[in-house]
Amino acid sequence: MTRLQKKIEQFIKLNKEYYDIVEPILKHPEIIKRKDFIHHESCSVYDHCLIVSILSYIWAKKLGWDYKSAAIGGLLHDFYDEPWQKNLHITKKFHEKHGFIHARQAAKNAAKYFPELITEKVDNIIRRHMFPLNIIPPKYRESWIVSMVDKYTSLDILKSPKEWPKYLGFIRNKQN
Ligand SMILES: [Fe+2]
Ligand SMILES: [Fe+2]
Repeated sequence: MTRLQKKIEQFIKLNKEYYDIVEPILKHPEIIKRKDFIHHESCSVYDHCLIVSILSYIWAKKLGWDYKSAAIGGLLHDFYDEPWQKNLHITKKFHEKHGFIHARQAAKNAAKYFPELITEKVDNIIRRHMFPLNIIPPKYRESWIVSMVDKYTSLDILKSPKEWPKYLGFIRNKQN
């Protein structure tokens, strides 16, 4: 278990309110599958989404905003179809690259698997988290939180500009 996973586990144990909000999502087999999707070198998509959800929940709660939507939207913001690394060998048009399409895929999957949890606000949180790469800005303050927290938690990536094209899906994986 990594340090990040230990921290997540500890937080969930101590925060029943948070766990009650996200429990049906965390137990879903489609979400559990994301433990095997790599987000970046040292972190799965599952862990990444969980940490974005927890930090967004904490911030929204601190500010007296809608922490439930922040927790759910954060957890589902990268609920896209396939590990993006899998398709790096396929030539795609610019606007079809992972960075541009995955938020839309995530919103569709969220509505498909968790229709009872998806409000217009949660949908907006998921769809707009890639602003400014996806040019329409977030509509709700909770959408802004998730978008910011997502960028903050991906700072390791931001620190290595050389890696950006790879993460946005602009260059091919050497293995393929
Ligand atoms: Fe994303
Ligand atoms: Fe993300």
